[in-house]
Amino acid sequence: MIDGQRKVIWSSEMHAFRLPSPDLWRDVLQKMKASGFNTVAFYFDWGFHSPKRGVYDFSGIRDIDRLLTMAEEEGLYVMTRAGPYVNAELTRGGFPGWLVNQRSRARTDDPDYMAAADEWLTQVHAIIRKHQINGDGKGNRGTVILHQIENELALTTASQRRYMDHLYAKARADGITVPIFHNDQGRNGYWVPEDSKVEKVVHGPNDMYAFDGYPGGTCTVGGKVTRGSAAPDWGYYGPGGAKGGASASPNTPGFLAEFGGGWFDYWGSNGGYECNARQRGKRFQRVFYGTNLANGIGIQSFYMGFGGTSWGWLPAPVVFTSYDYGSAISETREVREKAEELKQLGGLIRAVPDLAGMIPAGAPTISSPNIQVYHNKSPETDARFLMVTHKPSNGQSDDRFTVAADLPDGRYTLPMQLRGFDAKWLIAGVNLGGQRLVYSTSELQALTKHAGGDLMLLYGRTQEPGETVLRYASEPRVTVLDGQVTSTFASNGDLKLGYTHGTLARVRISGGGRPDLTLLIGDEAEGVKFWQEGDMLVRGPALVRSGALKGGTLALTGDTRAEEPLEIWAPGAIRRVTWNGVVLPTRAAGGTVVATQPLPAPASFTLPTLKWRAAPGSPETAPGYDDSKWQAIDTRAYASITARPDGQPNMLMDAYGFHEGDVWYRGRFQGTPAAERIQIYYGAGGSGMIQVFLDGQLIGDHELPSGLPRPITTGTATFTLPEAARTPGEHVLSVMLRNNGHNWDLDADDFHKEARGIVSASIEPRVGPSFSVPIAWKIQGRAGGEDIADPVRGVANSGGLDGERRGWHLPGFDDRAWKATVPAAAGTTWYRSSFDLAVPKGQDATIGLAFGDTTKPRSTGRYRVLMFVNGWNMGQFIANIGPQRVFPVPEGILNHRGRNTVALAVTSDGAPENALEAVKLVTLRTVRGGIPVAPVAAPTKPSELKAD
Ligand code: GAL
Repeated sequence: MIDGQRKVIWSSEMHAFRLPSPDLWRDVLQKMKASGFNTVAFYFDWGFHSPKRGVYDFSGIRDIDRLLTMAEEEGLYVMTRAGPYVNAELTRGGFPGWLVNQRSRARTDDPDYMAAADEWLTQVHAIIRKHQINGDGKGNRGTVILHQIENELALTTASQRRYMDHLYAKARADGITVPIFHNDQGRNGYWVPEDSKVEKVVHGPNDMYAFDGYPGGTCTVGGKVTRGSAAPDWGYYGPGGAKGGASASPNTPGFLAEFGGGWFDYWGSNGGYECNARQRGKRFQRVFYGTNLANGIGIQSFYMGFGGTSWGWLPAPVVFTSYDYGSAISETREVREKAEELKQLGGLIRAVPDLAGMIPAGAPTISSPNIQVYHNKSPETDARFLMVTHKPSNGQSDDRFTVAADLPDGRYTLPMQLRGFDAKWLIAGVNLGGQRLVYSTSELQALTKHAGGDLMLLYGRTQEPGETVLRYASEPRVTVLDGQVTSTFASNGDLKLGYTHGTLARVRISGGGRPDLTLLIGDEAEGVKFWQEGDMLVRGPALVRSGALKGGTLALTGDTRAEEPLEIWAPGAIRRVTWNGVVLPTRAAGGTVVATQPLPAPASFTLPTLKWRAAPGSPETAPGYDDSKWQAIDTRAYASITARPDGQPNMLMDAYGFHEGDVWYRGRFQGTPAAERIQIYYGAGGSGMIQVFLDGQLIGDHELPSGLPRPITTGTATFTLPEAARTPGEHVLSVMLRNNGHNWDLDADDFHKEARGIVSASIEPRVGPSFSVPIAWKIQGRAGGEDIADPVRGVANSGGLDGERRGWHLPGFDDRAWKATVPAAAGTTWYRSSFDLAVPKGQDATIGLAFGDTTKPRSTGRYRVLMFVNGWNMGQFIANIGPQRVFPVPEGILNHRGRNTVALAVTSDGAPENALEAVKLVTLRTVRGGIPVAPVAAPTKPSELKAD
């Protein structure tokens, strides 16, 4: 209940940290709102804010306060999910880098761990507190309605219970007053509220029980969608029957903190996001989300609503740069077709508050064994929800049937069709404005006010017949303004309208003892052309973001993909309409306002060809390289869960303050006949790698495997040493190691503390007695270590390549001394290109970088690229692993109307067949409209970085 009103909470998730351009947060929030959501869920990533113990940053791209304000301004409720652990396919599941050096077990009540977690919680709670719907007691208020502690904590020991108690108490002590929940990783009954008095569950301190679910088939390797399972009955209609079922929490509202809105994709796949978008897309949403709603799950949040980009070193080893997720809003910020279906479903939820708190109303009589109907009623108003789907719900047959049910206005038989995998969300016996809907076989998308009366927008599957029955005191006057609609009036007061769903039909009904009613009836394609803004309906544009009616002027903002029409249904008079600030010529037509010329289309624009300058980037390999300032490897405390051979020093990168990206090791040894081979045991995440040089020559490289569900993240590389190693005198090994992220800690077993960096290395004879040549090692990583050199771009942005340490990735670096080409060499070569963009004003586009042949998931060449756009590390391309070859870069990072610089750090063995392929700029999406996006301010010159 919010302000005394029962509500269905209809939510989807976004991660602001996966869109490092704060102005665009609003773009996504507006698209979520326009897609029918009333709530947004946010994870916060502790590690993103904390480069070092005691150091926290909530500015710029980390400005959570601004994010929560925006959500409020856009009219969305918020669920905050602040960890300390969040998972989310993030490196360390959101834990900060420095936490892997803590020996005490994470996600327990170990005091050291809890003290670290409290540091973060104190900071983040202070911001969330001000945005709670209940206020913070100091005059601040916002739209946060629910707050999550921890994430899928499935270890339920006494220590974990004490930890959960602590998290709850900490939130309360820090002024969090909204209800607190935790998300069980399945409907297991973990951390069910104490006072629920259910048996066979694990109790916790929470106010609400919530769980996560990702059911319903997969995408096959060939990119085909499977509908392998029916939607589960996780509530009223499941085993146990009660809300939440016997094994969960019957006394708290049904609550899915995460339900599949797509799925993540992984290194080495064939590229699954488009398939994920279809698999958990149109139709799936009706069937699965509808089954949840029918089962009494009144709070649903879809993970993800907008996935975004795991730029820089954000990703956990399981995922690559794109976190598109197949979600309703794509990584390029496209409103996908599935978002349009969500708009229709969300429209119903908005129009019919009676849907909140419904309970089963008894099975109707169905003429087909292939069909089931979930029939619910409101205990307060008796309004009905009939969710019509196949039995089982993943059935795909075409069926014609009837549904006979005792509805509030009498017993009725509804003629129906269901063609293929689908569900229909019908309502009956419900008051809508001043009208009484007896039933409709069409679905309701919107209820607004129009011309002194009510307006209903109904839709159905194209070419299917539909009927709508409304109740009147006496026979009303029916005027069909457009289309073919028949009507009959019965003595019981029922006005029955009959039609076929197709192009938009318009009907006006007056008299009969009710306010006037405008009925708009079309097929789904007609329905999705409509956007609701307050009490207005707007038809035509690709997106309507906002509509404010003031003094007779309606100011609309939105996007067009092409020339698009505009028509407006409003409750009162509109004298003037502006579209994105420009006055539109309009005329009044049959009670609506119509633009007399189409809204303008986006103009086309061209992208420049990239021209490169290059420089060699691995000076660390040279035998004479000066590493005197590097840290010597020593025997400092070892906190990793990875066992290492006895008596070894601590070689792990994290122990030296280097948590992200690349590190270099240099090791000196005396040449000896025993130096026949080198074995290096290392950890580097999925698809992580090392390159090993001896006295300046590459002796080999090694890549860790990719793959699901747990990629292999450590491995041993063995290389034969060249003759040179056996010659007397000092030799130098240079090892570049790329850490593709720390593991998540999904199972609360400290998996995030698996070794990163070299664990152990030995130079030894190929056969014979175990003997190892002593090596004196040094290590170097990103500038400043935990005292990061670029706090504006932050933790995720930089690793320890020499070029990064020198600021070669920054737009203001002077590359005039660089050459058009450099000889191919093993190691890393840098390329830079500066260019101007001129996206037409008033247009929103998503521009990306594309590598080589984008029709294939991988190349035959073996190389990898870190791409920096105006200094921002926007991701990693691994040519031989894939699948991602096109990397969207958000505006704000890219300057759409001015100068830009791209820097690429390309790592390979130097063989010609492993060279960088053609790189070009590509336009991935363009609309006229959008919102103003300021460039994200950050250091541009190397001299602006903090000294090492
Ligand atoms: C959930 C988890 C999320 C995310 C999701 C898969 O189990 O809570 O953080 O990892 O799985 O994308």
